[in-house]
Amino acid sequence: MHMERSLRTHIALTARMVAAAAVALLALGAIAARAASVPHAMVVAESAPAAKAGLAVMRRGGNAVDAAVAAALAMGVTNPASCGIGGGGFMLIYWAKTGRFYALDYRERAPLRASANMYLRNGRPDEALARTGPLAVAVPGEVAGLAAALKRFGSRDFQTLAAPAIRLAESGFPVTPHLAWEISRTADIIRHDPGLSATFFDRGGNPLKAGDVLTEKRLAGTLRNLGKDPDKNFYRGKTGLELASFIQRQGGLVSPEDLASYRPVWRTPLRFPFAECEVYALPPPASGGVLLEMLGMLEKGHLPGLGFNSVPYLVRLIGVMRQGFIDRQQYGDPAFVKVPVKELLSPEHIKEARALALKRTPAPLKTAAHDHGTANLLVVDSAGNAVAMTTTINTIFGAKMMEPRLGIVLNDEMDDFAVATGVRNVYRLAGVKPNAIAPGKRPLSSMTPIIVTKNGRFVMAAGGSGGPTIITGVLQVALDLLEFHMTPARAVSEPRIHDQANPDVVLVEERLPVSTRNLLERMGYRLKVWPELGAVGAIMAGPEGLRGAFDSRKGGGADGF
Ligand code: DON
Repeated sequence: MHMERSLRTHIALTARMVAAAAVALLALGAIAARAASVPHAMVVAESAPAAKAGLAVMRRGGNAVDAAVAAALAMGVTNPASCGIGGGGFMLIYWAKTGRFYALDYRERAPLRASANMYLRNGRPDEALARTGPLAVAVPGEVAGLAAALKRFGSRDFQTLAAPAIRLAESGFPVTPHLAWEISRTADIIRHDPGLSATFFDRGGNPLKAGDVLTEKRLAGTLRNLGKDPDKNFYRGKTGLELASFIQRQGGLVSPEDLASYRPVWRTPLRFPFAECEVYALPPPASGGVLLEMLGMLEKGHLPGLGFNSVPYLVRLIGVMRQGFIDRQQYGDPAFVKVPVKELLSPEHIKEARALALKRTPAPLKTAAHDHGTANLLVVDSAGNAVAMTTTINTIFGAKMMEPRLGIVLNDEMDDFAVATGVRNVYRLAGVKPNAIAPGKRPLSSMTPIIVTKNGRFVMAAGGSGGPTIITGVLQVALDLLEFHMTPARAVSEPRIHDQANPDVVLVEERLPVSTRNLLERMGYRLKVWPELGAVGAIMAGPEGLRGAFDSRKGGGADGF
């Protein structure tokens, strides 16, 4: 298929250019995070207009869940390369009145006609098929998830909350430097898709640039047509039929039955003690358990003595990251595989894992791909309720396809499955059996929004984007806040590292001092300097109210009152 070939060529050609482009982007975005400090309520999002949309809802008396839904819908419009109603995600909710936590899984599902061997061609796995084109598309969960959250906790109807998103899509908004970079980076591929090229290229056929006004009138119409019962209209109505029929005409598997049978799942959140606090996270198929295991291996209180980003500190981090990713190989969709999360978080296993944490697992050095699809969103309202949400269509512009009449960008979440055992996906994660493809199964995700409380009171929330670097990015920012007592603005801005055990390479941001890098190399670590690793947002409660920031690595907004 032409698009697959051009994707491979594109990746090969741009592998070196990505680094240079990201450096330029960093220069554009500067290093300062988008930060705010407010007394009552706050939204931190990977998009400033989305943060504003959420905030406006809370100013008019809406709660954190209302605000999260409004902001998520707006983010689907402003960050269409990263997330939207063609994708899915995870939401963690803290309800202050009862002190209870709720975990909502609205991850995409494999179509019912999917099979473990669907990407084998002439007996060989073709991973590119899971990443680009119609077979990459999994059943979207976004609308069902937002509707479910609203039904249980919301105080506003869907259309009221969709209004800012519809306005942005209809009237247009200036393309951010990050979105412009995403468009130009994928231009050679997305120009072949009629929907994407009509939306993200100008009349002269040039990719939209930063500052150009982007409108998404088709998407505005679709959001409006979802009406007050989005679940019914998207999954069992005209929108769903149109979407499924388009995907099938292109050669994909998503059918009307797939949409009609899609359900989000309320799951029991994971809870783990750390630094006199309780850390809450999403269970499988999200990676909250991996993050909690890493925190467990680190033991509270020992880290400040090592010194922030000192060589001994980084060596500890590398060890626990590796061990966490080794244990992550047991993760998958709990409806299909038994994931031993309880055992992995038991004191006995944590002790064992800590001892193993400094052992190495050598493997060939390969470049890791870390796209910046995915978007994170954090909300705290004046009643103290909190929402931490991460949502995605997977890689930039997902399957690189748009349903042109609905204006929906289609996800490529099938690539998060093991295309075959041992075969790496776009994030260089090697396929493992528990994450094999099966009809109706959810692919394993690295998304891991967290909320931390102390004596039942909100302390902090964090989450991020960046494939597997989400886990390690959220880990480092949580440690910066809880152990090194940094402000969110500083925490999200500090240089980070990433190690996923396999490939045997530590990715380090180029802002990590050369002297530190040299010492790590002299100790035998194989380092690869990477311009930027993921993007993380955080909100922290303090005596003066709330402080929050979003990562300048991607732009975004922190706003409140
Ligand atoms: O769920 C996951 O783990 C991936 N689909 C997340 C993708 C992502 O963060 C894209 N950005 N690099």
